[in-house]
Amino acid sequence: MIDQPTNPNKALWEKGDFTRIAASMRDSGAELVAGLGIEDGMRVLDLGCGDGTTALPAAQLGAEVLGVDISAKLVAAGTARARDAGLANLRFQEGDASDLADLADDRFDLVVSIFGAMFAPRPFDVAKEMVRVTRPGGRIVMGNWIPGDPTLVAQILKIAGAYSPPPPEGFVSPVTWGVEEDVLARFSQAGIAPERVSLDRATWTFVTPGSPAELLTDFRDYYGPTMNAYAAAAADGRADELHAELAELFARENTATDGTTRIPATYMRVTVAT
Ligand SMILES: C[S@@+](CC[C@H](N)C(=O)[O-])C[C@H]1O[C@@H](n2cnc3c(N)ncnc32)[C@H](O)[C@@H]1O
Repeated sequence: MIDQPTNPNKALWEKGDFTRIAASMRDSGAELVAGLGIEDGMRVLDLGCGDGTTALPAAQLGAEVLGVDISAKLVAAGTARARDAGLANLRFQEGDASDLADLADDRFDLVVSIFGAMFAPRPFDVAKEMVRVTRPGGRIVMGNWIPGDPTLVAQILKIAGAYSPPPPEGFVSPVTWGVEEDVLARFSQAGIAPERVSLDRATWTFVTPGSPAELLTDFRDYYGPTMNAYAAAAADGRADELHAELAELFARENTATDGTTRIPATYMRVTVAT
């Protein structure tokens, strides 16, 4: 029997259990979707959809939603959530944002990708695919973490990177999707002029009934990028150092004062008129 080559991007997101983190993201997901002007019957693709933080509320507003994700585990988790919510207009399937060969040209009115497609390899292909499957006159909305931003997730990714082995040759950092020139260059190569792309900073809030230390435990045990960093730090005898650095970040960023967690994080919202 011949072993299938491993897709490291897929392996990373199937390693943990993102549903544990996603549980803290539901309020912001619903809020973002409520502002997208979704109407009955609108055809929506949610790319890198996870277990449906934005796909579910979009379907609840009457859209015909397809959630696509590289992780089979998250596709299964989203499918279960759609079934439990009784949403026949929401489907999930496995797919790679860098190559959406299964999806026809111009198929969607709206493509949403919240901290999803930014993690796919080959960002120029990702932009091309998002544009290809969106109909002329449609819209693409991305949420992307910003390099160097001082708030939670950009800092988690930065700290995790500092404890991880150097990435393979040719790796393009996901947070380059939070850099204006990179975003414009990628959509420009996909045939979208810069004036059709707008960028603004927005806030995503992580909310849990537990403490920031408990949320950090979930990131340590279930979020692929931090799991890898903890493994590399442990191999170097630096796991305690990494944990202390992240614990300080989570505590510092928490705005709740009642023992629960409420952490606002800044992201780049990219809106493209196709
Ligand atoms: C940070 S999670 C965000 C999930 C979801 N959008 C949310 O807001 O809860 C990143 C998601 O992107 C997915 N992903 C990573 N690389 C991908 C790729 N190449 N194609 C499709 N999905 C991908 C992961 O499996 C994961 O579900």
